[in-house]
Amino acid sequence: MIIAVDGPAASGKGTIAAALARRFGLPHLDTGLLYRAVGLSVKAHIEAPDIEARATRAAELLDVTGVDPQALLGADVGILASRIAVFAGVRRALFAVQRDFALQPAGAVLDGRDIGTVIAPEADAKLFIVADAAVRAGRRARQLEARGLTIDRTRLLADIEARDARDRAAPHGGFHPADDAVLLDTTDLDIEAAITAAIAEVEAAI
Ligand code: C5P
Repeated sequence: MIIAVDGPAASGKGTIAAALARRFGLPHLDTGLLYRAVGLSVKAHIEAPDIEARATRAAELLDVTGVDPQALLGADVGILASRIAVFAGVRRALFAVQRDFALQPAGAVLDGRDIGTVIAPEADAKLFIVADAAVRAGRRARQLEARGLTIDRTRLLADIEARDARDRAAPHGGFHPADDAVLLDTTDLDIEAAITAAIAEVEAAI
């Protein structure tokens, strides 16, 4: 069984995907971490003219062993990730990693932006999680503050909106829900209610 959970930054998709993985006993991949790891590894060259070639090479050679996930969570790394995510070579290299994960015999839950449309169009259940940008910024701020980081909330909202805009305008056509995805709006749901709704949608789909 493959479960695809897509949606914009800080929509709750990661938490929902982790809960679905526990509920259905499946391995889980947060695909944003792959883009974040590539973005961080080329940080020093992000303004260089050859950034596309560098980021593509980094994606092809990506080895996440030894990468501290804590180092990948910051809003600044999210921006780096969205800047290198527009490159076709990066998407091609990371496609292979994500596809392999999806095709494990045990099945899998993947969360990202294009799981239901590109990585695993055959997924058994597809959710597309949405929420107002201001609500998403508030959640992400609390999440980062809980990890001991100091957050400028106004900047965080601006970062999320900038990332949404870049993700929408991406040359590969932007991210959109698969035709057969279920839209789940979590603006007015707390995380428990969002997880309950997601489990119900997956059970209805399989
Ligand atoms: O989900 P997260 O905020 O960690 O993703 C960081 C960035 O990586 C996104 O803004 C997006 O540009 C890119 N991304 C992507 N495809 C995915 C996951 C993330 O392009 N499947």
